[in-house]
Amino acid sequence: MMNSIESLKAHYGFTNGDVRNLVSLKPLMERHADEFIGEFYNYVKHFEDAGKYLKNEEIIKRHKEAIKKWFVNLFSGEYGRKYFDEIEKVGMAHVKINLPPHYVNAAIRFVHVFAQEIITKEIKSTEEAAYLSRSVDKIIDINLDVFTSSYIEEEKQFFLSQRLESYLIQLANRFTYGLNLILVLGLVLLGVLVLGLFVYDLAHVFTAAGDIEKGLLSTLGSLLMLWVVIELMDTEIAHLRGGKFAIKVFLSVALVAIIRKILVTSLHSEAMGAQITLIAAVAVLGFLYWLIAKVE
Ligand code: HEM
Repeated sequence: MMNSIESLKAHYGFTNGDVRNLVSLKPLMERHADEFIGEFYNYVKHFEDAGKYLKNEEIIKRHKEAIKKWFVNLFSGEYGRKYFDEIEKVGMAHVKINLPPHYVNAAIRFVHVFAQEIITKEIKSTEEAAYLSRSVDKIIDINLDVFTSSYIEEEKQFFLSQRLESYLIQLANRFTYGLNLILVLGLVLLGVLVLGLFVYDLAHVFTAAGDIEKGLLSTLGSLLMLWVVIELMDTEIAHLRGGKFAIKVFLSVALVAIIRKILVTSLHSEAMGAQITLIAAVAVLGFLYWLIAKVE
């Protein structure tokens, strides 16, 4: 452990001069610690899923205190085993809650910029400011290195053999991708067929045994089906491009299918009971759709 700490510092060119620089900055940074917390949170809250991790006031309060301590400790001058144990714990805490490493990288970028601004504002000599900034950059990068290692360590866990497992995962990934492509092809085919049905219905609006209402409703039904296929295709393409799985689209498909059924049954005046059931189903699905849309 001690060896790896020393070599890590050596790889970043972290010298006793850097330790002295950081210690000399401690009083200045302590004065700006509260400002740091405020700006850090202002920055982090714009991450789309920040609320998923910092989910209540208690966690936020704890995190603010932990971050403040971490920030001030960057300038403690003690960069031995205890310090590295602590920052490893921070890395592991983020891995444990599945915090995307990208968030940590972006937040660290913010810390770089914040420290740089304080130094430029408060240190009059440009040369000295540049020298101090280099030391701050080094310790922040060393922290990021340790945080990143926690994610890599977590990924290294395997059950039988790392090679076999990554091969299996790759194979499964490719297979899923292939199935998704087949799904897209199926949807294209379905789209063509529904388009055919729409054209057929349209052509028969006036010839549907003299019943224009029936002809119009069937055309509307096939138009709705076409809309469903387009929705499904859009969702599948977005999914293939790495987008989120949209559960909402399945509800909209079910909604459209039932609405189409209502259109058809509305032609038979005796099917009142069936219509009420269908309307109740639309109400339930509509409510679910609204709930999901609200959560999203
Ligand atoms: C510069 C980047 C960051 C640093 C230095 C940092 C620091 C810390 C520290 C010191 C802890 C406490 C670790 C422990 O329990 O020993 C922690 C935990 C945690 N961090 Fe961060 N953090 C950073 C970025 C983020 C970001 C961007 C998020 C979310 C958007 C986040 C969410 C959390 C959460 C949810 C916990 C657990 C809090 C708890 O339950 O006590 N962190 N972090």
